[in-house]
Amino acid sequence: MRFPASLSLLALVLQEARQASLPEKERRRREEQPQAAGDSNAVLLPGDYALSLDNYDEVIDLGSYQELTDYGDQAPEAKGTSLAPPNGISSTQSTVAPRTPSSNATVTRPAMLGLPVSPTSHSLPTCLVCVCLGSSVYCDDADLESIPCLPQTTAYLYARFNSIRRIRARDFKGLTKLKKIDLSSNFISTIDDDALYLLPALQALILPENRLTALPRLPTGIEVLDVRLNRLQSSGIQPGAFRALEKLQFLYLADNLLDSIPGPLPLSLRSLHLQNNRIETMQKDTFCDPEEHKHTRRQLEDIRLDSNPINLSLFSSAYFCLPRLPIGRFS
Ligand SMILES: *[C@@H]1O[C@H](CO)[C@@H](O)[C@H](O)[C@H]1NC(C)=O
Ligand SMILES: *[C@@H]1O[C@H](CO)[C@@H](O)[C@H](O)[C@H]1NC(C)=O
Repeated sequence: MRFPASLSLLALVLQEARQASLPEKERRRREEQPQAAGDSNAVLLPGDYALSLDNYDEVIDLGSYQELTDYGDQAPEAKGTSLAPPNGISSTQSTVAPRTPSSNATVTRPAMLGLPVSPTSHSLPTCLVCVCLGSSVYCDDADLESIPCLPQTTAYLYARFNSIRRIRARDFKGLTKLKKIDLSSNFISTIDDDALYLLPALQALILPENRLTALPRLPTGIEVLDVRLNRLQSSGIQPGAFRALEKLQFLYLADNLLDSIPGPLPLSLRSLHLQNNRIETMQKDTFCDPEEHKHTRRQLEDIRLDSNPINLSLFSSAYFCLPRLPIGRFS
């Protein structure tokens, strides 16, 4: 490493201080929002933000999925531990960073942390506006209106609490190392259909609290898709959108406007959250193959259909292959 370890540590401490002030800024932002939200359904009420933080804790508990542990930096009680970078970062930091001294954009610049971030700052090089640490780029709460130009080596992008409205096809073009994109709490209503599909390493796409009405084409390696608290309609999910996603384990679509359960669902799925939608009915073969009574879906342990206008008792033959009944209204 060119930079002494102590400098990197200092950067992390400063970053942590910046993170710690987030909830307050966020609260202010949310209070200003009702007029910006226009038809403001429940999605953008201040209280819901707290709710979604709670859900993040559930996410952490849900599995051994490692990258998700860095959600801890949003939870106040995790502050102490979040000083240490998530596993994925510490390992890549020592291996990737030294290999790329020739690239201007990937130079770590802890000393620039103190730069004032103004609304015009997105015209500055990304690693001045954001914090680049190893293969991670942190752009939380930086007044961004679009995805910044990212270093080729970026593996983890955090650009939460900004004002990004659209993801364009060129935004992530050629970023073959990109594993995780977290754009929680922006104003994204449009994702170009080919903006994400060709990202070969993408595992986690985290988009809660945006304004999406439709999903783009998804890359086949994706493991976690979180689109809670958007405006997704069933017509915005292509038939068979998830069929080829053989690594998809966590599909979070709660708090949207869906009126049916999307399918077919890949066998890899462990968690399907659809609470707070408008689902009234389901197909007999949504979860289990009615022709194949030995068919099981041992992985799918966590299905949430509560707060939907569906009477789950009416579909009693639809659950035989599941290890556990869905959560919802049986009466
Ligand atoms: C870094 O940026 C400078 C100034 O733009 C440029 O002259 C130089 O060639 C760049 N170096 C590399 C390795 O890209
Ligand atoms: C739900 O379905 C069950 C089984 O057919 C039925 O007995 C019950 O009355 C239904 N509940 C409501 C609220 O419609």
